Amino acid sequence: MATLLHLDSSPMGAASVSRHLSNTFVENWKKAHPGGTVVTRDLTKSGLVSITAEWVAAAYTPAEQRTAEQKAVLAKSDELLAEIDAADELAIGVSMHNFNIPSVLKLWIDQVVRVGRTFAYVDGAPKALLAGKKARHGCGWDPRAEAGGGESGAGQGSL
Ligand SMILES: Cc1cc2nc3c(=O)[nH]c(=O)nc-3n(C[C@H](O)[C@H](O)[C@H](O)COP(=O)(O)O)c2cc1C
Repeated sequence: MATLLHLDSSPMGAASVSRHLSNTFVENWKKAHPGGTVVTRDLTKSGLVSITAEWVAAAYTPAEQRTAEQKAVLAKSDELLAEIDAADELAIGVSMHNFNIPSVLKLWIDQVVRVGRTFAYVDGAPKALLAGKKARHGCGWDPRAEAGGGESGAGQGSL
């Protein structure tokens, strides 16, 4: 059975445009995949933290040589990666914050982009190791802000 991983990154709760978009996508996905599984992760409530020098050192240490401390440092990353591994598709609700993605989504990306796990260096160039997964995103932004109008409040996007 198909599995969808649904991520949201807006802090705006029920008022969020991107959450509305991703929720709409999920409802349509469920209709198209009767019996499918949806795993939901709210990145604003996931307690994600920045990666550290210890995190990088642990990631670059071969799995079989990691200390208990290094395994603990990578525990949250392992949890997030297991969710990706189990998913056939990803749906990501993304707000536009200061011409960028929300910081919680960047924290998630930093935790799941991991050498030897989601990418590897082949002939000196990074090669993606996740194959066959579709990722879609619904983005909320303010077209007036993007046009230099200086106002905010409205949002739009597609998933
Ligand atoms: C802190 C903050 C920063 C924002 N920065 C931008 C921006 O750089 N460009 C833009 O078009 N809209 C910007 N906006 C407007 C949001 O993108 C818009 O409100 C959108 O609906 C946010 O998605 P959400 O409703 O899912 O949270 C910003 C809004 C907030 C609260």
